[in-house]
Amino acid sequence: MTAFATDTLVSVSQLTRRFGDFTAVNEVSFDVPRGRVFGFLGPNGSGKSTTIRMICGLLVPTSGRITGPQGLDIVKRAESWKKRLGYMSQKFSLYLDLTVKENLEFFGTVYGLSKERLAARIAKLAARLRFERFLGTITETLSTGYRQRVALAAALLHEPELLVLDEPTGGVDPRGRRLFWDLIYELANDEGMTVLVTTHYMDEAEQCDQLTFILNGQLIAKGTPHDLKGSLRDHIFEVVPPGEPFAALAAVRDDAALEDSYLFGVRLRAVAKAGRAQDVATLLSRFGTPTAAEPSLEDVFVSLARSYAAASQPAVSV
Ligand SMILES: Nc1ncnc2c1ncn2[C@@H]1O[C@H](COP(=O)(O)OP(=O)(O)OP(=O)(O)O)[C@@H](O)[C@H]1O
Ligand SMILES: [Mg+2]
Repeated sequence: MTAFATDTLVSVSQLTRRFGDFTAVNEVSFDVPRGRVFGFLGPNGSGKSTTIRMICGLLVPTSGRITGPQGLDIVKRAESWKKRLGYMSQKFSLYLDLTVKENLEFFGTVYGLSKERLAARIAKLAARLRFERFLGTITETLSTGYRQRVALAAALLHEPELLVLDEPTGGVDPRGRRLFWDLIYELANDEGMTVLVTTHYMDEAEQCDQLTFILNGQLIAKGTPHDLKGSLRDHIFEVVPPGEPFAALAAVRDDAALEDSYLFGVRLRAVAKAGRAQDVATLLSRFGTPTAAEPSLEDVFVSLARSYAAASQPAVSV
Protein backbone atom coordinates (compact mmCIF):
# COMPACT_ATOMS: atom_id res chain seq x y z
CA MET A 1 0.00 0.00 0.00
CA THR A 2 1.36 3.43 -0.90
CA ALA A 3 1.46 6.63 1.12
CA PHE A 4 -1.31 8.00 -1.09
CA ALA A 5 -3.74 5.31 -0.07
CA THR A 6 -3.81 6.52 3.51
CA ASP A 7 -5.01 9.97 2.43
CA THR A 8 -8.73 9.41 2.09
CA LEU A 9 -11.00 11.78 0.19
CA VAL A 10 -14.30 10.04 0.87
CA SER A 11 -15.01 7.47 3.54
CA VAL A 12 -18.13 5.31 3.30
CA SER A 13 -19.22 3.54 6.46
CA GLN A 14 -22.00 0.97 6.91
CA LEU A 15 -23.91 2.55 4.04
CA THR A 16 -27.37 1.11 3.49
CA ARG A 17 -30.19 2.06 1.14
CA ARG A 18 -33.58 0.39 1.05
CA PHE A 19 -36.36 0.89 -1.46
CA GLY A 20 -39.43 -0.32 0.42
CA ASP A 21 -38.61 -3.85 1.61
CA PHE A 22 -35.77 -4.23 -0.87
CA THR A 23 -32.20 -3.56 0.28
CA ALA A 24 -30.24 -2.23 -2.72
CA VAL A 25 -27.08 -1.37 -0.73
CA ASN A 26 -26.35 -3.32 2.42
CA GLU A 27 -23.89 -2.01 5.04
CA VAL A 28 -21.14 -1.16 2.57
CA SER A 29 -17.88 0.40 3.86
CA PHE A 30 -14.82 1.56 1.91
CA ASP A 31 -12.42 4.49 1.57
CA VAL A 32 -11.75 6.33 -1.67
CA PRO A 33 -8.09 7.43 -1.69
CA ARG A 34 -7.30 10.95 -2.88
CA GLY A 35 -5.69 11.37 -6.29
CA ARG A 36 -6.34 7.79 -7.32
CA VAL A 37 -8.56 5.94 -9.77
CA PHE A 38 -11.04 3.92 -7.73
CA GLY A 39 -13.03 1.27 -9.58
CA PHE A 40 -16.42 0.07 -8.52
CA LEU A 41 -17.45 -3.27 -10.01
CA GLY A 42 -20.38 -5.61 -9.81
CA PRO A 43 -23.03 -7.30 -11.95
CA ASN A 44 -26.17 -5.52 -13.16
CA GLY A 45 -28.41 -4.51 -10.31
CA SER A 46 -25.75 -5.02 -7.63
CA GLY A 47 -26.11 -1.49 -6.24
CA LYS A 48 -23.26 0.45 -7.90
CA SER A 49 -25.30 3.39 -9.17
CA THR A 50 -27.29 3.56 -5.92
CA THR A 51 -24.05 3.78 -3.92
CA ILE A 52 -22.63 6.37 -6.28
CA ARG A 53 -25.72 8.51 -6.11
CA MET A 54 -25.48 8.55 -2.32
CA ILE A 55 -21.79 9.52 -2.49
CA CYS A 56 -22.75 12.37 -4.82
CA GLY A 57 -25.37 13.63 -2.36
CA LEU A 58 -28.16 12.87 -4.84
CA LEU A 59 -29.84 10.12 -2.83
CA VAL A 60 -30.28 10.01 0.94
CA PRO A 61 -29.01 6.81 2.62
CA THR A 62 -31.34 4.79 4.81
CA SER A 63 -28.45 4.50 7.28
CA GLY A 64 -24.68 4.78 7.44
CA ARG A 65 -22.21 7.62 7.01
CA ILE A 66 -20.42 9.23 4.09
CA THR A 67 -17.60 11.53 5.13
CA GLY A 68 -15.75 13.86 2.77
CA PRO A 69 -12.60 15.99 3.14
CA GLN A 70 -12.02 17.50 6.60
CA GLY A 71 -14.78 15.34 8.05
CA LEU A 72 -17.49 16.87 5.87
CA ASP A 73 -20.81 15.09 6.44
CA ILE A 74 -21.85 14.51 2.83
CA VAL A 75 -25.38 13.49 3.73
CA LYS A 76 -26.06 16.67 5.70
CA ARG A 77 -23.99 19.00 3.50
CA ALA A 78 -25.02 17.59 0.13
CA GLU A 79 -25.57 20.99 -1.51
CA SER A 80 -22.05 22.30 -0.86
CA TRP A 81 -20.51 18.90 -1.63
CA LYS A 82 -22.21 18.69 -5.05
CA LYS A 83 -20.32 21.79 -6.21
CA ARG A 84 -17.02 20.05 -5.54
CA LEU A 85 -17.64 17.03 -7.70
CA GLY A 86 -18.26 16.22 -11.33
CA TYR A 87 -20.81 13.48 -11.93
CA MET A 88 -21.37 11.69 -15.19
CA SER A 89 -24.48 9.62 -14.68
CA GLN A 90 -25.14 6.28 -16.30
CA LYS A 91 -28.24 7.76 -17.85
CA PHE A 92 -27.48 10.28 -20.56
CA SER A 93 -27.79 13.73 -19.04
CA LEU A 94 -27.30 16.24 -21.86
CA TYR A 95 -30.12 18.19 -23.54
CA LEU A 96 -30.63 16.55 -26.90
CA ASP A 97 -32.18 19.56 -28.61
CA LEU A 98 -29.30 21.90 -27.73
CA THR A 99 -25.99 22.10 -29.56
CA VAL A 100 -22.92 20.68 -27.86
CA LYS A 101 -21.65 24.19 -27.07
CA GLU A 102 -25.03 25.25 -25.66
CA ASN A 103 -25.08 22.19 -23.41
CA LEU A 104 -21.61 22.96 -22.07
CA GLU A 105 -22.52 26.62 -21.58
CA PHE A 106 -25.61 25.58 -19.67
CA PHE A 107 -23.70 23.29 -17.30
CA GLY A 108 -20.88 25.84 -16.90
CA THR A 109 -23.40 28.48 -15.87
CA VAL A 110 -24.94 26.08 -13.34
CA TYR A 111 -21.45 25.62 -11.85
CA GLY A 112 -21.11 29.41 -11.70
CA LEU A 113 -18.16 29.78 -14.09
CA SER A 114 -17.45 33.25 -15.50
CA LYS A 115 -17.98 33.75 -19.22
CA GLU A 116 -14.24 33.92 -19.93
CA ARG A 117 -13.36 30.89 -17.84
CA LEU A 118 -16.21 28.90 -19.34
CA ALA A 119 -15.07 29.72 -22.89
CA ALA A 120 -11.50 28.69 -22.01
CA ARG A 121 -12.61 25.43 -20.36
CA ILE A 122 -14.88 24.49 -23.29
CA ALA A 123 -12.06 25.14 -25.76
CA LYS A 124 -9.58 23.11 -23.70
CA LEU A 125 -11.87 20.12 -23.10
CA ALA A 126 -13.21 20.05 -26.67
CA ALA A 127 -9.61 19.91 -27.91
CA ARG A 128 -8.53 17.31 -25.33
CA LEU A 129 -11.55 15.08 -26.04
CA ARG A 130 -11.43 15.83 -29.75
CA PHE A 131 -14.94 17.03 -30.35
CA GLU A 132 -14.23 20.65 -31.47
CA ARG A 133 -15.78 20.04 -34.85
CA PHE A 134 -19.08 19.11 -33.20
CA LEU A 135 -19.45 22.20 -30.98
CA GLY A 136 -22.18 23.58 -33.25
CA THR A 137 -23.89 20.20 -33.75
CA ILE A 138 -27.28 19.38 -32.24
CA THR A 139 -26.49 16.84 -29.51
CA GLU A 140 -29.17 14.38 -30.63
CA THR A 141 -27.32 13.73 -33.88
CA LEU A 142 -24.04 12.73 -32.17
CA SER A 143 -22.95 9.10 -31.94
CA THR A 144 -22.93 7.46 -28.48
CA GLY A 145 -19.16 7.79 -28.23
CA TYR A 146 -19.18 11.53 -28.90
CA ARG A 147 -22.15 12.11 -26.59
CA GLN A 148 -20.15 10.44 -23.81
CA ARG A 149 -17.14 12.65 -24.56
CA VAL A 150 -19.32 15.75 -24.26
CA ALA A 151 -20.90 14.45 -21.04
CA LEU A 152 -17.41 13.88 -19.61
CA ALA A 153 -16.42 17.42 -20.58
CA ALA A 154 -19.56 18.75 -18.86
CA ALA A 155 -18.55 16.95 -15.64
CA LEU A 156 -15.05 18.44 -15.82
CA LEU A 157 -15.87 22.07 -16.63
CA HIS A 158 -15.42 23.31 -13.05
CA GLU A 159 -12.30 21.20 -12.34
CA PRO A 160 -13.90 19.12 -9.56
CA GLU A 161 -11.98 17.50 -6.69
CA LEU A 162 -13.84 14.26 -7.25
CA LEU A 163 -14.89 12.97 -10.66
CA VAL A 164 -17.60 10.32 -10.51
CA LEU A 165 -18.16 8.31 -13.67
CA ASP A 166 -20.98 5.77 -13.79
CA GLU A 167 -20.20 3.46 -16.71
CA PRO A 168 -18.75 6.23 -18.84
CA THR A 169 -17.61 3.98 -21.66
CA GLY A 170 -20.76 1.90 -22.23
CA GLY A 171 -21.26 1.81 -25.99
CA VAL A 172 -17.99 3.64 -26.70
CA ASP A 173 -15.62 2.18 -29.31
CA PRO A 174 -12.05 1.11 -28.38
CA ARG A 175 -10.44 4.34 -29.61
CA GLY A 176 -12.90 6.41 -27.59
CA ARG A 177 -12.33 4.24 -24.51
CA ARG A 178 -8.58 4.75 -24.83
CA LEU A 179 -9.09 8.50 -25.02
CA PHE A 180 -11.28 8.42 -21.89
CA TRP A 181 -8.76 6.39 -19.93
CA ASP A 182 -5.78 8.48 -21.02
CA LEU A 183 -7.60 11.52 -19.70
CA ILE A 184 -8.68 9.77 -16.48
CA TYR A 185 -5.03 8.91 -15.75
CA GLU A 186 -3.82 12.34 -16.63
CA LEU A 187 -6.36 13.92 -14.28
CA ALA A 188 -5.44 11.62 -11.40
CA ASN A 189 -1.68 11.59 -11.88
CA ASP A 190 -0.96 15.14 -13.04
CA GLU A 191 -3.74 17.09 -11.38
CA GLY A 192 -4.38 14.96 -8.29
CA MET A 193 -8.06 14.54 -9.13
CA THR A 194 -9.79 11.60 -7.46
CA VAL A 195 -11.79 9.44 -9.85
CA LEU A 196 -14.53 7.02 -8.86
CA VAL A 197 -15.58 4.91 -11.83
CA THR A 198 -17.89 1.97 -12.48
CA THR A 199 -17.31 -0.30 -15.42
CA HIS A 200 -18.18 -3.72 -16.76
CA TYR A 201 -14.96 -3.86 -18.81
CA MET A 202 -12.30 -5.93 -17.09
CA ASP A 203 -9.48 -4.29 -19.03
CA GLU A 204 -10.63 -0.97 -17.57
CA ALA A 205 -10.91 -2.44 -14.08
CA GLU A 206 -7.34 -3.63 -14.50
CA GLN A 207 -6.22 -0.03 -14.86
CA CYS A 208 -7.72 1.15 -11.56
CA ASP A 209 -5.51 1.74 -8.51
CA GLN A 210 -8.11 0.26 -6.18
CA LEU A 211 -11.14 -1.93 -6.82
CA THR A 212 -14.29 -2.67 -4.89
CA PHE A 213 -16.59 -5.47 -5.92
CA ILE A 214 -20.22 -5.55 -4.84
CA LEU A 215 -22.82 -8.25 -5.28
CA ASN A 216 -26.46 -8.08 -4.17
CA GLY A 217 -25.73 -4.77 -2.47
CA GLN A 218 -22.92 -6.24 -0.38
CA LEU A 219 -19.25 -5.51 -0.66
CA ILE A 220 -17.54 -8.83 -1.18
CA ALA A 221 -13.95 -7.83 -1.98
CA LYS A 222 -11.68 -4.83 -2.17
CA GLY A 223 -8.03 -4.26 -2.98
CA THR A 224 -5.63 -3.48 -5.81
CA PRO A 225 -6.01 -5.55 -9.00
CA HIS A 226 -2.76 -7.30 -8.08
CA ASP A 227 -3.94 -8.09 -4.54
CA LEU A 228 -7.30 -9.36 -5.73
CA LYS A 229 -5.64 -11.84 -8.04
CA GLY A 230 -3.51 -13.14 -5.17
CA SER A 231 -5.99 -15.78 -4.02
CA LEU A 232 -6.08 -17.36 -7.48
CA ARG A 233 -2.40 -17.11 -8.28
CA ASP A 234 -0.90 -20.60 -8.74
CA HIS A 235 -4.43 -21.94 -9.17
CA ILE A 236 -4.91 -21.49 -12.90
CA PHE A 237 -3.44 -23.79 -15.51
CA GLU A 238 -3.68 -23.89 -19.25
CA VAL A 239 -2.85 -26.28 -22.00
CA VAL A 240 -3.35 -26.36 -25.79
CA PRO A 241 -5.20 -29.62 -26.42
CA PRO A 242 -4.01 -31.46 -29.54
CA GLY A 243 -7.54 -32.09 -30.88
CA GLU A 244 -10.83 -30.25 -30.73
CA PRO A 245 -10.69 -27.79 -27.76
CA PHE A 246 -14.44 -28.11 -27.03
CA ALA A 247 -14.10 -31.87 -26.69
CA ALA A 248 -11.21 -31.40 -24.27
CA LEU A 249 -13.23 -28.92 -22.22
CA ALA A 250 -16.23 -31.24 -22.14
CA ALA A 251 -14.00 -34.09 -20.96
CA VAL A 252 -12.76 -32.26 -17.85
CA ARG A 253 -15.30 -29.59 -16.93
CA ASP A 254 -17.21 -31.64 -14.36
CA ASP A 255 -14.13 -32.64 -12.38
CA ALA A 256 -14.60 -32.01 -8.65
CA ALA A 257 -11.21 -30.25 -8.33
CA LEU A 258 -12.30 -27.46 -10.70
CA GLU A 259 -13.62 -24.12 -9.67
CA ASP A 260 -14.03 -23.11 -13.31
CA SER A 261 -12.91 -24.11 -16.78
CA TYR A 262 -13.18 -22.36 -20.13
CA LEU A 263 -11.59 -21.94 -23.54
CA PHE A 264 -9.27 -19.02 -24.11
CA GLY A 265 -8.70 -19.03 -27.86
CA VAL A 266 -7.28 -22.48 -28.57
CA ARG A 267 -6.17 -22.88 -24.96
CA LEU A 268 -8.06 -24.78 -22.30
CA ARG A 269 -7.93 -22.98 -18.97
CA ALA A 270 -8.78 -24.53 -15.64
CA VAL A 271 -9.15 -22.82 -12.28
CA ALA A 272 -8.48 -25.06 -9.28
CA LYS A 273 -10.49 -25.04 -6.08
CA ALA A 274 -8.53 -24.16 -2.95
CA GLY A 275 -5.98 -26.88 -2.20
CA ARG A 276 -6.63 -28.70 -5.50
CA ALA A 277 -3.96 -27.10 -7.73
CA GLN A 278 -1.93 -30.28 -8.11
CA ASP A 279 -5.03 -32.30 -9.02
CA VAL A 280 -5.92 -29.82 -11.74
CA ALA A 281 -2.39 -29.83 -13.16
CA THR A 282 -2.61 -33.63 -13.30
CA LEU A 283 -6.07 -33.45 -14.89
CA LEU A 284 -4.83 -31.23 -17.73
CA SER A 285 -1.65 -33.21 -18.28
CA ARG A 286 -3.62 -35.70 -20.38
CA PHE A 287 -3.63 -33.03 -23.13
CA GLY A 288 0.01 -31.94 -22.85
CA THR A 289 2.21 -30.15 -20.32
CA PRO A 290 0.09 -27.61 -18.43
CA THR A 291 1.56 -24.23 -17.62
CA ALA A 292 0.54 -21.84 -14.83
CA ALA A 293 -1.49 -18.86 -16.10
CA GLU A 294 -1.83 -15.42 -14.50
CA PRO A 295 -5.42 -14.97 -13.28
CA SER A 296 -7.50 -12.29 -14.96
CA LEU A 297 -9.87 -10.09 -12.97
CA GLU A 298 -12.68 -11.94 -14.69
CA ASP A 299 -11.39 -15.18 -13.12
CA VAL A 300 -11.27 -13.43 -9.76
CA PHE A 301 -14.80 -12.11 -9.95
CA VAL A 302 -16.30 -15.32 -11.26
CA SER A 303 -14.62 -17.12 -8.38
CA LEU A 304 -15.77 -14.54 -5.80
CA ALA A 305 -19.33 -14.62 -7.10
CA ARG A 306 -19.37 -18.43 -6.96
CA SER A 307 -18.04 -18.56 -3.41
CA TYR A 308 -20.52 -15.92 -2.40
CA ALA A 309 -23.41 -17.81 -3.93
CA ALA A 310 -22.27 -21.08 -2.38
CA ALA A 311 -21.71 -19.78 1.12
CA SER A 312 -23.40 -16.37 1.18
CA GLN A 313 -20.58 -15.46 3.46
CA PRO A 314 -19.76 -11.90 4.56
CA ALA A 315 -17.11 -9.62 3.01
CA VAL A 316 -13.51 -10.64 2.56
CA SER A 317 -10.81 -8.01 2.36
CA VAL A 318 -7.49 -8.57 0.63
N1 LIG B 1 -35.51 4.27 -7.13
C1 LIG B 1 -35.53 2.94 -7.00
N2 LIG B 1 -36.64 2.31 -6.56
C2 LIG B 1 -36.68 0.97 -6.40
N3 LIG B 1 -35.64 0.16 -6.68
C3 LIG B 1 -34.50 0.73 -7.13
C4 LIG B 1 -34.39 2.14 -7.32
N4 LIG B 1 -33.13 2.42 -7.77
C5 LIG B 1 -32.50 1.23 -7.87
N5 LIG B 1 -33.32 0.23 -7.48
C6 LIG B 1 -32.98 -1.21 -7.45
O1 LIG B 1 -31.79 -1.35 -6.70
C7 LIG B 1 -30.96 -2.36 -7.29
C8 LIG B 1 -29.60 -1.79 -7.54
O2 LIG B 1 -29.70 -0.89 -8.63
P1 LIG B 1 -28.45 -0.09 -9.19
O3 LIG B 1 -28.95 0.78 -10.29
O4 LIG B 1 -27.74 0.56 -8.06
O5 LIG B 1 -27.55 -1.27 -9.75
P2 LIG B 1 -26.22 -1.19 -10.64
O6 LIG B 1 -25.19 -2.02 -9.93
O7 LIG B 1 -25.87 0.23 -10.92
O8 LIG B 1 -26.65 -1.95 -11.97
P3 LIG B 1 -26.21 -1.71 -13.52
O9 LIG B 1 -24.89 -2.44 -13.71
O10 LIG B 1 -27.29 -2.36 -14.28
O11 LIG B 1 -26.10 -0.24 -13.75
C9 LIG B 1 -31.69 -2.85 -8.52
O12 LIG B 1 -32.38 -4.03 -8.19
C10 LIG B 1 -32.64 -1.73 -8.84
O13 LIG B 1 -33.80 -2.23 -9.49
MG1 LIG C 1 -25.69 1.30 -12.61
